[in-house]
Amino acid sequence: MKKNLTLLAAAIAIGVTACNETPQEKWTDHAIDVAAYQLKQTATELTDSTAMPMPRCTWTGYDIAFLQRQLESEVNIDSLHPVPGPERLGKRRLCGIVDWTSGFFPGSLWYAYELTGDEALREQAVRYTNLLYPIRQLKGTHDIGFMINCSYGNALRLAPNDTISKVLIETAETLCQRFDPKIGCIRSWDFGKWNYPVIIDNMMNLDLLFSASKLSGDTKYRDIAISHARTTIKNHFRPDYTCYHVISYNPDGTVESRNTHQGKNDDSSWSRGQAWAAYGYTLCYRETNEADFLQQAIHVADMIMSQVQTNDSIPYWDYDAPATEETPRDASAAAVTASAFLELSTLAPDGQKYYNYAERLLKNLSSKNYLAEKGSNHGYVLMHSTGSLPHGSEIDTPINYADYYYLEAFKRYLDMQK
Ligand code: GLY
Repeated sequence: MKKNLTLLAAAIAIGVTACNETPQEKWTDHAIDVAAYQLKQTATELTDSTAMPMPRCTWTGYDIAFLQRQLESEVNIDSLHPVPGPERLGKRRLCGIVDWTSGFFPGSLWYAYELTGDEALREQAVRYTNLLYPIRQLKGTHDIGFMINCSYGNALRLAPNDTISKVLIETAETLCQRFDPKIGCIRSWDFGKWNYPVIIDNMMNLDLLFSASKLSGDTKYRDIAISHARTTIKNHFRPDYTCYHVISYNPDGTVESRNTHQGKNDDSSWSRGQAWAAYGYTLCYRETNEADFLQQAIHVADMIMSQVQTNDSIPYWDYDAPATEETPRDASAAAVTASAFLELSTLAPDGQKYYNYAERLLKNLSSKNYLAEKGSNHGYVLMHSTGSLPHGSEIDTPINYADYYYLEAFKRYLDMQK
């Protein structure tokens, strides 16, 4: 009897606690606490590294038989990245400022500062952002949109000054040198087998162009962004609104080829690519009010919700990957999707379903299955992303852009609670 009373008292105590706490505060507070801790630790630890100042992911290896099972075809042996030696495997992988991911760590620091008000995070955000100053003149890639918008773009929002505006405009100017009016798109890459490759990821670089037009008063950046987005609607999507990864154009603007680079095969739906598409068309609608962009974002978002195969909705690395125990997830695709869907929920007539899906993604990413424990995970916030499985690269690892879009989604989510 005594035991039963004790149990009853414990149950009442739990009940009281549960009533007094808002569960939402609990999981969001915990996630922000972990993120701020991880990012601050990492920023402090890396103080001495100048050639490779940014954390990118951890070094991963692969087993060819596993890759074959994932691809359900032969591996292209020539495209595999070397397996890192034992001295690197499982350790933190750093990168230099010309790496396409170099803007995400400074951007994450900005979001962590915004979410916590911690001045130490702000100081680190300024320090890491300033390292990217030379990138405004980097000509060989479309990725300068990611690099500068995520770092300097957030700096402008949170600590505006004229120098930052100039960096954004100058970067937009550099990016627009990669635009071909006959094709109507910005060229993504300067490597590979293609005549004029444009990847779906390139939609993410348009945010910078819209900002540059607002800052400079010159509409040319915005016009190029709109042209790129319209051309991409025409050529990148299949009838079911899944998208190809790489479209290459002939000089006259006709399509040369439709391929993948990081997905399972040319006809599959690479998970992060679908997320880039949802995010890209949502931002284009936000900036232009053009109905076609909203329709495209809605179609892609509905497609994502119907294609996902996992119980927790954190997708496998490709929506067409085999649904098996060993198939790696891509938490970064989930984070980008969550952020995109939160914005889309404010723009679409039937926005609640996107909000609900984003909330589910955020809660699941914030569970112990994906969110690191403080002091673990080499200082990254999320676990279980996949960079490029067909290359044997970054498989089931923390990656800096998963952290960035997770924090951005968090900021959007918390703003919407107000
Ligand atoms: N933009 C390259 C990637 O998403 O992996």
